[in-house]
Amino acid sequence: MDAWDAIRARRNVRSYTAEPIPDDVVDRILEAGWRSPSARNNQHWDFVIVTDPAVLQDLSTVWVGAGHIAGARAAIALVLPDAPDERTRLMDQYDLGQATMAMAVAATDAGVGTGHSAVGDQERARAILGVPEDHTVAYLLGLGYPADRPLAPIRKPNRRPFTEVVHRGRW
Ligand SMILES: Cc1cc2nc3c(=O)[nH]c(=O)nc-3n(C[C@H](O)[C@H](O)[C@H](O)COP(=O)(O)O)c2cc1C
Repeated sequence: MDAWDAIRARRNVRSYTAEPIPDDVVDRILEAGWRSPSARNNQHWDFVIVTDPAVLQDLSTVWVGAGHIAGARAAIALVLPDAPDERTRLMDQYDLGQATMAMAVAATDAGVGTGHSAVGDQERARAILGVPEDHTVAYLLGLGYPADRPLAPIRKPNRRPFTEVVHRGRW
């Protein structure tokens, strides 16, 4: 899949087949995050890759919207340190979003579906993963081959109209 097709084919996948994801594919997805740009090249992120089904099951309880993590073949926990100020906090969130998208596109390129989840119960998420108290488990990204349909470019995505979103030259 070329980059344009992968961008158009990426979607949230929340049900996964039992097929394991090869280690080199998982590593490539992680490398896509590792290569991502960040403000001042800060790279304030850490990624915890989880493949143990029991741990994935536990992680699925940290947020009401995390149920799909239980059925994923793997999940990447996206972790940020506590920020010293609001500006750093906002930049770190922006950077993490970019890393997440890079991982999602790399996964799509390999036919692997990704499903975001926020994290509600921070104490529990940290305890499950052994993350230090001065860090936040910001998001989870479930990984697995889609159980519904293969990833292919979406012709009519569910989005606000393009002409409403894009302002040319001036608002
Ligand atoms: C910051 C963020 C948090 C999200 N949190 C969740 C979540 O907790 N559970 C979930 O099922 N999906 C979550 N999503 C997925 C969005 O609902 C999804 O990206 C959006 O509906 C657009 O659909 P698409 O990704 O299939 O294009 C999240 C997405 C983002 C970017």
